[in-house]
Amino acid sequence: MNVHVLVPAAGSGSRIGGDIRKQYLELGDQPVLVQTLSRLAALPQITAIHLIVPEEDVAFCRAELVDRYRLEKIGGVIVGGAERQDSVRKGLEACGAASQDVILVHDAVRPFFPKDQIGPLLQLAAVEGAALLAIPAQDTIKEVFDGLVRSTLDRRLLWQVQTPQAFRCERIREAHRRAYASGYVGTDDASLIEWCGWPVAVLAGHPHNLKITTPADLALARALLAAGEVSLT
Ligand code: C5P
Repeated sequence: MNVHVLVPAAGSGSRIGGDIRKQYLELGDQPVLVQTLSRLAALPQITAIHLIVPEEDVAFCRAELVDRYRLEKIGGVIVGGAERQDSVRKGLEACGAASQDVILVHDAVRPFFPKDQIGPLLQLAAVEGAALLAIPAQDTIKEVFDGLVRSTLDRRLLWQVQTPQAFRCERIREAHRRAYASGYVGTDDASLIEWCGWPVAVLAGHPHNLKITTPADLALARALLAAGEVSLT
């Protein structure tokens, strides 16, 4: 079984602000994206990594990231789309995975994913068709409309979902195909599998598996590193 990783990194990064997209900001002494890609490449289960970036960044990523940092297992640098879902769909079309392979989708801006959970995640996806990492919600979560609380959701049932998410290739390709054909947009890849009525298995993620999308996230990531709470290898 080959495992192809899709790394969507085609976001504008506008939430962090400034001229540099969030995935190119430095953490430790390297860009966040480089940290994520090196950590993925070091996993023995991974066959190839496909990086998905904005069209205008393809040359920069090849020269200044892939070549400069001698990143391994890079199968290709693919042009992304307007929404994250478009970027992943384009990655699925271009990566050359076979239908029996497993696809791992992982956000470029999550450099601290739990390495020990990747083997179990891939196994679960091979059996169930789809699997993701998640942690139980810590806060009470309310539905709010027009400035007023509409309802309080049962926290015991709520989980915060992370990436990596893993899928049997033929399942995630078909889910993206159907969603595109009917204009359905989900906020992660697993939601397209759910929308098709197929199961998604859940495995314990880790609270340190941050998605670095705001200046506060970046400050937290740097503080966790400085305190030795996380490592980049
Ligand atoms: O949009 P969000 O912050 O959730 O982005 C999660 C990941 O998806 C990031 O790594 C971002 O670069 C990527 N993305 C993408 N294509 C887009 C929008 C976001 O690859 N059009």
